[in-house]
Amino acid sequence: KEDVIILAIETSCDETAASVVKNGSEIISSVVASQMDSHKRFGGVVPEIASRHHTEIITQVMEQAMLEAELPFSKLTAIAVTEGPGLVGALLVGISAAKAVAFAHGLPLIPVHHIAGHIQAAELVKPILYPAMALVVSGGHTELVYMKEPGHMEVIGETRDDAAGEAYDKVARTLGLPYPGGPHLERLAATGEPTVKLPIAWLEPGSYDFSFSGLKSSVINTKHNAEQRGEPFKAEDVAASFQHSVVEVLVEKTKRAALAYDVQQVIAAGGVAANRGLRAALKDAFIGTGIDWTIPPIELCTDNAAMIGAAAYIEWNKQNLADWDLNGKPGLAL
Ligand code: KG4
Ligand code: ZN
Repeated sequence: KEDVIILAIETSCDETAASVVKNGSEIISSVVASQMDSHKRFGGVVPEIASRHHTEIITQVMEQAMLEAELPFSKLTAIAVTEGPGLVGALLVGISAAKAVAFAHGLPLIPVHHIAGHIQAAELVKPILYPAMALVVSGGHTELVYMKEPGHMEVIGETRDDAAGEAYDKVARTLGLPYPGGPHLERLAATGEPTVKLPIAWLEPGSYDFSFSGLKSSVINTKHNAEQRGEPFKAEDVAASFQHSVVEVLVEKTKRAALAYDVQQVIAAGGVAANRGLRAALKDAFIGTGIDWTIPPIELCTDNAAMIGAAAYIEWNKQNLADWDLNGKPGLAL
């Protein structure tokens, strides 16, 4: 069987990325250019700035990925690109670049769902065992996704308000930490003790949904009350308590879902899966259950194009290809 070699492009948020992936499982090259520093002073991603930066650098990033792969375009099977969800202007830069390269080299174009990419990153570590359960925790998403077989994705639970990453970023801002708050909050939490009582939203029995807005408000109130009363406010203890609460509910619901759906493997995906506390707690939770787990290395949890190449392989096998009128879909459902 001939190898399927895909050049994948990802520009849905603030990372400009390109990667060459073989058979959906082997990274030949992966280039990620982060715009983080440009957005930092605004305390979040500014869509217009993101689009402009993508435009400035996308050609270079694609060229670099091909250069590192040491392959001519004639060896490529297809070009893949994230079609959504994400910032529409940012998505359109990647889509336009992908169309141009695909058209110029006479290659098919594969549309990829960003979250399917995050999940499929697991295949770059080791083969996914089906049925599987994926915990997707990123800046825009918090979902439990059941997968019966390759390409099947059923959302069985999701956040009713903030995404986990969004909660991390908002709480971090309340604690005076720079953007993006997740990694900073994790570092601060490591120096504190989880001694502050914060609410965990378990929701109705049997629900696999999440809610983080109450937790976020509780942190804001705790800080406000301490300031009003002139009491000491130990940010590191609040950070540790927040981290403890988020990890507990994420891990517990993932475990319940994995057992209820009788899966063979659990996958963690998305930027928040870079959190060391979450990674350790997930591993612990599945020891002795007979359920295997894959938590990709941190660089494959945060936005990258290798994951898009991995997910594109499944679309290629289904011959799910895009036409030249492919558009960015900011709210694309899984
Ligand atoms: O998947 P991702 O790179 O981009 C989206 O598609 O959203 O996720 C970014 C999110 C941000 O909210 C960031 O603060 C969070 O992931 N994040 C973390 C950590 N690293 C990144 N949250 C907690 N702990 C971390 N170590
Ligand atoms: Zn993402």
